[in-house]
Amino acid sequence: MTTHTEPDPLTFTERGFPWPGYPTGWFQVGWSAELAPGDIRPVHYFGRELVLYRGEDGTLAMLDAFCPHMGAHLGYGGTVEGSCLRCPYHGWVWSADGGNVEIPYGDRGTINARAHAWRLTERAGVVYAWYHRDDEPPSWQPPAFEEESGAGFYDPYGWATHTEPLRMHPQFASENFPDLAHMHYVHRWRGIPEPTEWKVDGPYLRVDYPGTIGTPRGDVVLETVNEAYGVGLNINRVVGELRSTTLGAFTPIDDRTSRGFITMWLPRTDGADQPGGLHRAMAASNIQELFGPTSDRRIWEHMHYRQHPLHVGYETTLTRDYRQWTRQFYPDAAETGTAPSPFRKEGGGG
Ligand code: FES
Ligand SMILES: [Fe+2]
Repeated sequence: MTTHTEPDPLTFTERGFPWPGYPTGWFQVGWSAELAPGDIRPVHYFGRELVLYRGEDGTLAMLDAFCPHMGAHLGYGGTVEGSCLRCPYHGWVWSADGGNVEIPYGDRGTINARAHAWRLTERAGVVYAWYHRDDEPPSWQPPAFEEESGAGFYDPYGWATHTEPLRMHPQFASENFPDLAHMHYVHRWRGIPEPTEWKVDGPYLRVDYPGTIGTPRGDVVLETVNEAYGVGLNINRVVGELRSTTLGAFTPIDDRTSRGFITMWLPRTDGADQPGGLHRAMAASNIQELFGPTSDRRIWEHMHYRQHPLHVGYETTLTRDYRQWTRQFYPDAAETGTAPSPFRKEGGGG
């Protein structure tokens, strides 16, 4: 009997992506509802073993996982005490900002050593971590979803959220939302949309376009507003009758894979406390549209990244402007100043 196994995924570099390391920015590392006070989760992002925990006072913290003392993983057997984490191996205690606050034996009490503490923020039930290659502090904030987290929308956690690891660089998904032609070929829109708005403001990018989709009740025209906050956070808002807001977040796990997260906010109808069957069907179909076996995910997981893509029509502007915008998130791109020009001819293999 023969068995077929998928080959190990290639690194981002082997797949043609030009910039080494991970992009600067805010990235989703979970949902607030996953961590009650006292909860601890081992997680793995940015090529690092990490521990995420919520203190008894409700504050969330994320530390590099290996205890500075002798390297035990704080996420396996560690315990939350107040806002701190006690190591399971010899009981040393680390604070939410990584400082040592207790050595329970010997005569020195504490030691001047730190576990690396990550910058986190929680907004609208989404947990974001800040990544910068040189650990520089955040220069911008992740989206707040003020309207969506209010009384007019259902809380999406559990029924309209989804996550799984994917063999892709986060930018493969980010490039997808201003990609208008794929709306027809992947998402079965009636035609190829034209952009009605294109705006860049620092780490923020917005592209609006309308589209026509077929529904059991006939064709419906969707007006969409698409926003990116860095290359890890993509927001799609559908305005009008089929109103919804979807956050598609992609966080590097290592240099071969990213964790994809979907969060979809749908407006409450008729004051109902719980989402109905139609809401649940919309959330499920949106998740399929992104991560289903024949949708975006199939493209992203198998594509080779063209540094010098061919382009026609609107793609000339969008590809060039989009990729120019992304350079700010790659310190190597900013430092070398050598833009991979979309107008240069594609080389042999890549
Ligand atoms: S390894 Fe953590 S206290 Fe010793
Ligand atoms: Fe798509």
